[in-house]
Amino acid sequence: MSDPGAQIVAGLASLGQRHREEFKQASTEQELRAAKARLLGKKGELTGMLKQMGALPPDLRRELGERANGLKREVEAHFEARLAELALALRQADLVAPPVDLTLPGRLPVARGHRHPLSQVCDEILEIFGELGFQTAWGPEVEFESNNFTKLAFPPDHPATDMQDSFWVDVRGAGPDLRALLRTHTSNVQAREMSHRQPPMAIVSGGRVYRRDDDVTHSPMFHQVEGFLVDERVSFAQLKGVLTEFARRLYGTETPVRFRPSYFPFVEPGAELDVGCVFCRLDDGSRESCRVCKGTGWLEILGCGMIHPRVFDACGIDSEAFTGFAFGLGVERVAMLRYGIPDIRLLFENDPRFLGQF
Ligand code: DAH
Repeated sequence: MSDPGAQIVAGLASLGQRHREEFKQASTEQELRAAKARLLGKKGELTGMLKQMGALPPDLRRELGERANGLKREVEAHFEARLAELALALRQADLVAPPVDLTLPGRLPVARGHRHPLSQVCDEILEIFGELGFQTAWGPEVEFESNNFTKLAFPPDHPATDMQDSFWVDVRGAGPDLRALLRTHTSNVQAREMSHRQPPMAIVSGGRVYRRDDDVTHSPMFHQVEGFLVDERVSFAQLKGVLTEFARRLYGTETPVRFRPSYFPFVEPGAELDVGCVFCRLDDGSRESCRVCKGTGWLEILGCGMIHPRVFDACGIDSEAFTGFAFGLGVERVAMLRYGIPDIRLLFENDPRFLGQF
């Protein structure tokens, strides 16, 4: 067959017959697209035939050209139909395939979390006082100056009321007698509870407090537990008894304790409670070099004292009829001593490699 016209006619006829079969044999979209490229692509069969048409007489060229274009449309339509068929088959195979079981356990073990060491220590302290008969109460972190300072008998010029130590908060529309700040200690709970109830009462409260402090042992936000007991004839002996028992329950029954005189404006007399250093308890000569107690053998753990009559007066409790004691301690310090944590900031960075150790 040397006649190019006859060759093209035969080629078109052959293509018209074969293309369906070729598309049918393609069982994936990729195979189907490859088959289409073989027929219609730049180097495909039909393109090859169209190229040969240049040599034909014009009439024949037009006629065969129209046929070729018709065939091209037909092949394209069959291609689209087969494409849809394959997509449908894929979807149906998916529907009858064994289902994915979403209830299967994951492959990676998921580590179980636990409470933050500070929460654990804080709860433990509150629990010990709970066992000793104290109720728990709560106080706000944004507090009026009166509950944080004034009712607790801080003189107006006391250094702790200074702007250096406190974060003051703007209360819009409030006058100068309604100033507010982030509480600097949990002693605000004393002022609040004593202002709205009458003795007897034995209360503890834990929570966040804020000061303008920031170094290895001080954080601008930290935690305290405050406690107080008010009744008729409460004496310093009861303060000593309760707090000694607390220290022994927290640090062990053999723990030595001592009370040292100290000053806080809301108590008289005031004291600090020390416990024997837990890091150099053995008298083996290591004491002098102990960095935690600095060789003294004692660690200060809380402030305490007999509630000052001025505080009772400011809160509306009869200071002739009642006496009471109060105490306050820092939770971070207890946790740092217990676990030997050298830097307070570790407690707030929340690095799981650190928290995972408790
Ligand atoms: N509020 C004191 C402080 O933050 C701690 C304190 C000392 C509380 C003596 C008391 C107390 O209730 O009696 O440093």
